Amino acid sequence: MLRSAFLWLSNRDSVFKFTKRNKLANKIASRFVAGETVASAIEVTRSLNARGITASLDLLGESVHTKEEAVRARDGVLEALDAIASTEVAGNVSVKLTQLGLDIDESLCAANMHTILNRAKELDIFVRIDMESSVYVERTLRLFTNDLQPAFGDLVGVVMQSYLRRSGQDVSDLVERGARIRLCKGAYAEPSSVAFDSMREIRASFVVLLEHLLERGNYPAIATHDPRLIDHAIQYVERNAISPERFEFQMLYGVRRDLQTRLRERDFNVRVYIPFGTNWYPYLMRRLAERPANVGFMVASILKESVSRR
Ligand code: FDA
Repeated sequence: MLRSAFLWLSNRDSVFKFTKRNKLANKIASRFVAGETVASAIEVTRSLNARGITASLDLLGESVHTKEEAVRARDGVLEALDAIASTEVAGNVSVKLTQLGLDIDESLCAANMHTILNRAKELDIFVRIDMESSVYVERTLRLFTNDLQPAFGDLVGVVMQSYLRRSGQDVSDLVERGARIRLCKGAYAEPSSVAFDSMREIRASFVVLLEHLLERGNYPAIATHDPRLIDHAIQYVERNAISPERFEFQMLYGVRRDLQTRLRERDFNVRVYIPFGTNWYPYLMRRLAERPANVGFMVASILKESVSRR
């Protein structure tokens, strides 16, 4: 119930304008977001690198409505790529296609991705395409498989969500193509016609996809903080003599730092996803949807501020 409410709120721009002014919301956001500038993301990356952990920088923003916004987002990603290269930190970038114009015009989005990937190629930095809600999956995979992967190979990868019923087939097809895949559970509100409802089914699906990727995938990324799934992955690679160099664990900035360190201490590759930028509201709402413990506190504070302003 709370999860659905927060996922619903993640699409409400009007609430964002209000939340952005709230001090506690800003404080909670700062737990999950490195800061508003690329310099803040680089600083966080440096401190992670010092602990042996790599990064993926995510310029926050999604679902832009104009060509100008999409071009601005593209330039922001180029700036992040340049900053990674010039500071020599160990990091790559993650992007969202709706931020680069997928909803406006697919060819604009493709052109923006080509500009990003050409720069990434010059700098030898990997680019991950995040997966958004299920209405974008078909278009994202079409652009990836018909255009970006053939043109840029291992420099670009996609994300598979274990809550989607279609992911078994998609993972098989992508593995056949040698695609670089990040596996996660999925963070959006989806109808049960397309996604599993129960955590039991989502975990079971994750396990099947995980084993397939560990066995046959091209340097898969296992993106979860779920200790049961992480333990399963570790047992599976140990049982099947799969070397730790063949995959990486990924976690979100601000979530389970203890687990990140423990995995690194066991010599597993660990990458942390670092969101930065001013457009943090939908991202924050999705993180709150996953963690109701923070929610009551934040809602109470927002209500208090709104009442005292009247
Ligand atoms: P789960 O939600 O069951 O959490 C397991 C444990 O982790 C919790 O018990 C808690 O201890 C901790 N935890 C999890 N979330 C927390 C939070 N917000 N605050 C505090 N503690 C928390 N999704 C998507 O749809 N498309 C994408 O492209 C990506 N990309 C992506 C990259 C990376 C690196 C990660 C780690 C995740 C994503 N996701 C994503 C999000 C993913 O789909 C999922 O919503 C979250 O990872 C939460 O699911 P978990 O598997 O971590 O388990």
